[in-house]
Amino acid sequence: MTTETDQKKCGSSCLRPLAITIFGLLIISILIAMPFLVGEPNAEKIPDIVRFFGRFHPVVLHLPIGIFSLIMIQELLAMFTRYKPQPTIIPIFIGAASAVVAVLFGFFLYIGGGYEMGELLQDHLWGGIFFASAAVLTLIVKSWLLPLKFSTVLYRAMIFGSVGIMSYASHDGASITHGKDYLFEYAPDSLRKIQGYEPKNVKVGAPVKPLEEQIVYEDMVQPILNKRCVECHKESKSKGKFRMDSYELLVKGGNEGDGIVPGKALDSNIVYRCELPEVDDEHMPPESKTDIEDHELAVIKWWIDSGADPVKTVAQLDLTEEIRAAISKLDLSVDLVAGKSGSATPLADLPSDELLKAVSALAKDFPGGLTFESQVSSRLTFTAISLRNNLDDQLFSKLKSVIPSMVAMDLSSTAITDDSVKLLATAKDLRVLRLSETKISDAALDTLASLKNLEAINLYGTRVTDAGVEKLKSLTHLKRLYLWQTDVSEGMITKLKEALPELEIITGV
Ligand code: HEC
Repeated sequence: MTTETDQKKCGSSCLRPLAITIFGLLIISILIAMPFLVGEPNAEKIPDIVRFFGRFHPVVLHLPIGIFSLIMIQELLAMFTRYKPQPTIIPIFIGAASAVVAVLFGFFLYIGGGYEMGELLQDHLWGGIFFASAAVLTLIVKSWLLPLKFSTVLYRAMIFGSVGIMSYASHDGASITHGKDYLFEYAPDSLRKIQGYEPKNVKVGAPVKPLEEQIVYEDMVQPILNKRCVECHKESKSKGKFRMDSYELLVKGGNEGDGIVPGKALDSNIVYRCELPEVDDEHMPPESKTDIEDHELAVIKWWIDSGADPVKTVAQLDLTEEIRAAISKLDLSVDLVAGKSGSATPLADLPSDELLKAVSALAKDFPGGLTFESQVSSRLTFTAISLRNNLDDQLFSKLKSVIPSMVAMDLSSTAITDDSVKLLATAKDLRVLRLSETKISDAALDTLASLKNLEAINLYGTRVTDAGVEKLKSLTHLKRLYLWQTDVSEGMITKLKEALPELEIITGV
């Protein structure tokens, strides 16, 4: 029954919801039209004052997040307890208004440019606009429902919906500022698995390519520089103001100008410095460090002379026999690790939780050293490249529990001895092993002779002799043996080749 007074009441009290509705819809239309009207981000066209306000986006955005979370908690309490929220429009009004301001500032930040993550940025922009629009619509609904003094299903649905969109938009926003993996970086591995992340601290090896497809810079040149030069030419320690840890910095050079001159190896400072006589003060690497090997320098020179392209593959450059030999000495052994030799089929074979735990626990002692062979493999590879001389028998013994899972290990230039090699007896799947420039002796080869799956062994620069190497005759899968700079005789090499016709022995001559 509608009385005259009721009608009168609506007459005046309907004015406010009506105003909110018209104004609210206008704002929503403007928000949605904004990206279409303004177009692509362009720092040069945008006045400083707009960019100034843009910087306030990260400050303002916390207000709507806080208010909407609070309103949602209130509504949940109202649903499940006897609690009754005050019938007021003020919080939702401030929430919606601050959401609009946050989105406006965010848009200012966006058109000022400087962000690269294209798709994520677009998602976040639209997430923000939809959230602010949902917030304003919720305000409109609330303004009409206010006289009811209780929450309706529609209003609650709109609050929960708004919070949902808000979470989505703010997660994208956080990913833009902190990086995509931010939220789950330290999550338990089980949660990370659900989200599609790899287990913590466990890097997964890149798929391995045949020689022709390898990128000369990335797969050969930079690894050589990492091994020989980067320790003194990196961000935290850039001798001669010269960093060698990325292509751009390599080209840029240091105090003395360009590091490399594409097409001209001999004019390139990195080559010039390495080719100076060792007694010269300017010779690189400095006297105290192991000198760069001739074959390593040969590969670098070949790459520079061929134009120093950062992405070209071996197949795209002219490969001479000499360079092929030099590359083979780099001992990439990757084709073997990849199981290309046919002895191992990379079946999906996921690591056990126990192994994952063990590998994570070891990550602290061996940063970046342990890697699963592939995303679906329980087999491990190990490299001591970042430890080198710091890896001794004692530290090595910590790896004991994961050794049975190893398929490839690079222990070259470390301080390990025959004692560590003894621990390898359990590495029954080991296919690639580098022991070059270590203190191992013939005694170590007894252990190796029992690892029947070995396909490549690098013993260059060790004290092994004929007596030791002869034991390797029993390794019928062996395809490559690196023996240069050892005392192994020509006679023994011939003998080995007779016993294992498929074996390639690299002696450096
Ligand atoms: C043990 C530390 C150390 C290592 C390792 C090292 N360098 Fe250096 N490098 C220096 C120091 C110190 C200087 C500055 C003094 C000088 O110019 O001789 C320098 C300067 C240079 C410069 C001159 C940069 C400029 O523009 O002034 C080049 C080029 C260079 N190094 C190349 C190399 C290469 C190539 C390697 C690896 C094969 C290497 N360095 C390894 C310490 C090192």
